[in-house]
Amino acid sequence: MKKIVISTGGGDAPGLNAVIYAVVRSCHKRGWEVYGSRNGYKGLLNMDELVRLEPEDVEGIYALGGTIIGSINKGDPFNMPVENLAGEIQFIDISDKILNNFQRMGFDCHIAIGGDGSLEIARQFSEKGMPVIGVPKTIDNDLEATDRTFGFDTAVATATEALDKLHSTAKSHDRVMVVEVMGRESGWIALYSGISGGADAILIPEVPFDIENVCSKIMDNTLHEKDYAIVVVAEGAKNSKGQVISKGEGELGRSEVVLGGIGEWVAAEIRERTGKDTRSLVLGHLQRGGSPTTFDRLLAMRFGAAAVRLVEQGVFGHMVALASPTMKAVSLADAVRSRKKVDLESDKVLTAREIGICLGD
Ligand code: F6P
Repeated sequence: MKKIVISTGGGDAPGLNAVIYAVVRSCHKRGWEVYGSRNGYKGLLNMDELVRLEPEDVEGIYALGGTIIGSINKGDPFNMPVENLAGEIQFIDISDKILNNFQRMGFDCHIAIGGDGSLEIARQFSEKGMPVIGVPKTIDNDLEATDRTFGFDTAVATATEALDKLHSTAKSHDRVMVVEVMGRESGWIALYSGISGGADAILIPEVPFDIENVCSKIMDNTLHEKDYAIVVVAEGAKNSKGQVISKGEGELGRSEVVLGGIGEWVAAEIRERTGKDTRSLVLGHLQRGGSPTTFDRLLAMRFGAAAVRLVEQGVFGHMVALASPTMKAVSLADAVRSRKKVDLESDKVLTAREIGICLGD
């Protein structure tokens, strides 16, 4: 008999529940117990946030967005911000307490589902002696060690559907619509949805853009009797001066900068330089919501089942990864080493260029 604890950390992504479903059922089949740690590591810190998960608790959840055990994207247990009596913020390490609770509960393994930040925390716990297995999650698809992360396909489908809808209104009003999508420092969501949704220009962090080139593309549309345009901008896109637009430093307890605002910046430049009626919108967290696509559900369930197989084999300190058509285990150290960027020589980028999409360069 084994006792597993599972957590979901970082920004949510469609498919989290499908992983939980697969882990609970695969463990149940082996006669093992599963507990959910609510809100990342909080359940391991505070025992009343630990919940026992039985097959009946996860019935049908594979089709639901979000995570039934909650998630949190700030508060690294190795560097946790707390307010002292003088009202000042101090950073403390609470990882020992979490490890002690893990051992006291008699857990054999922690299955940590997360993106780069949560997997880095999982790596540190693994180094500290906790048997951990990581599962790669993020709509950004920016983990180098796996062919795909779950959540990405759903986010792309949502963004593509939004672009489809924007075409008709842009056309009715002869407008330029600038759509900002998520993805942090990688342009995957922008590239995939932009191509599939018929964008005229796609601006991604991997290709610094010159706004003049974007405006030329829009004016070229007009010359060819297309008086509207759709521009997709990744939130981390940079102009040719290397400027990234952000909402400032990360929130307390969060190391990364909160991105956002580039869409409106691009729209204002286009308006001024072309005189075109231009609007911008931010798809934001819509991309993280809703039911996972078939691809994401299946991938998430495969990750969950593969993670339980690793527990059975005693392979800890690793993350399950898709190496199509199979699953492999990569060390957590390798899993968090680098971010996956769009390959500018790839067939998708060539396709975008060949069908006349401006990438801003
Ligand atoms: O990493 C996933 C992600 O959705 C990014 O694409 C985005 O920059 C960030 O999280 C948004 O985080 P929050 O939910 O804190 O606004």
